[in-house]
Amino acid sequence: MSILITGGAGYIGSHTCVELLNDGREIIIADNFSNSKPKVLETIKELTGRSFRFYEADICDKSALERIFSENEITEVIHFAGYKAVAESVKFPLKYYHNNVCGSLVLLEVMNAFNCKNLVFSSSATVYGMPENVPVSEDSSLFTLNPYGQTKLMIENICRDLCDSDGDWSVTLLRYFNPVGAHESGRLGEDPNGIPNNLMPIILQAAKGKIPELNVFGNDYSTPDGTCIRDYIHVVDLAKGHIAALSAMKKGAEVYNLGTGKGYSVLEIIEAFKRTNSVELPYKIAPRRPGDAARCWSLPSKAERELGWKAELGIERMCADSWRFAELKMSDADS
Ligand code: UD1
Repeated sequence: MSILITGGAGYIGSHTCVELLNDGREIIIADNFSNSKPKVLETIKELTGRSFRFYEADICDKSALERIFSENEITEVIHFAGYKAVAESVKFPLKYYHNNVCGSLVLLEVMNAFNCKNLVFSSSATVYGMPENVPVSEDSSLFTLNPYGQTKLMIENICRDLCDSDGDWSVTLLRYFNPVGAHESGRLGEDPNGIPNNLMPIILQAAKGKIPELNVFGNDYSTPDGTCIRDYIHVVDLAKGHIAALSAMKKGAEVYNLGTGKGYSVLEIIEAFKRTNSVELPYKIAPRRPGDAARCWSLPSKAERELGWKAELGIERMCADSWRFAELKMSDADS
């Protein structure tokens, strides 16, 4: 009996695999390396001292998924595989709808055919769009601003319809806030192929001198220091949230926010990063980025109440672990 992890070589997927293996679970990873590297699989094995089967497979490839299910006894799936760059999704919407939505449909069809009806899906706080009120609870209104967000919401709705149609299905939709940080060894972290889009990977590049400075997108928002506020969550806390979700699976569709419940502004993150790591971080104030909400942080109490899960690692650990990963990665790249 194994858990299939789609996108298990990716940023959140790889950290979740480590936690699952440390928890004694049997896993199988499927990944097509579209935004990850094969080396991650070796690192997961080295960090945990455990082994697992791996399939280089695309979730849109039905026969590849059928092969995985026929060769293994899979009881649950954690589905991470998907594209996640907002700007790219605006430029290439068909690519995003095809991969994220069609890929998820294919996965669900194959799960259904093999009578594996337990799914944890990697959703996102992006489904709250520009929240009118904070903290954001699971029943806040849903609104998406770009094709990436649409795909997350569509997949959530597909899962709900499936659960309504067949009472044997259990689906847990996890809405992540802003994942940052890295494994404490510094050997796993966020290592996107191409140019990063999210704040922490860009901070790391600026601190490393790979880019001249960080652009802070707007300082005229209605927040105390004028910069946007987000709920940053350590990726290891997030990974542990998946174990809690698996253990609490029940019939039907359920949704949970995975966040800390605490908001930090961009300037507060910059200060925390400099202070924690004793490094310089050049930045300048730049124009607003279209589509950014001024404030977005979670009400995480449902996950605490029903999953028994709560984020434990604070902003210093997020900054220190991110930096350790960047330092090791750069020395690897230089050698
Ligand atoms: C972004 C996406 C969101 C997606 C999430 C996935 C947008 C508008 N939103 O969320 O849909 O689910 O990533 O991880 O793209 N910032 C800067 N300078 C930078 C980069 C970011 O000031 O170079 C600021 C942003 O304005 C924002 C904060 O840092 O206030 C966090 O940005 P980011 O990491 O991109 O996350 P979100 O915008 O919250």
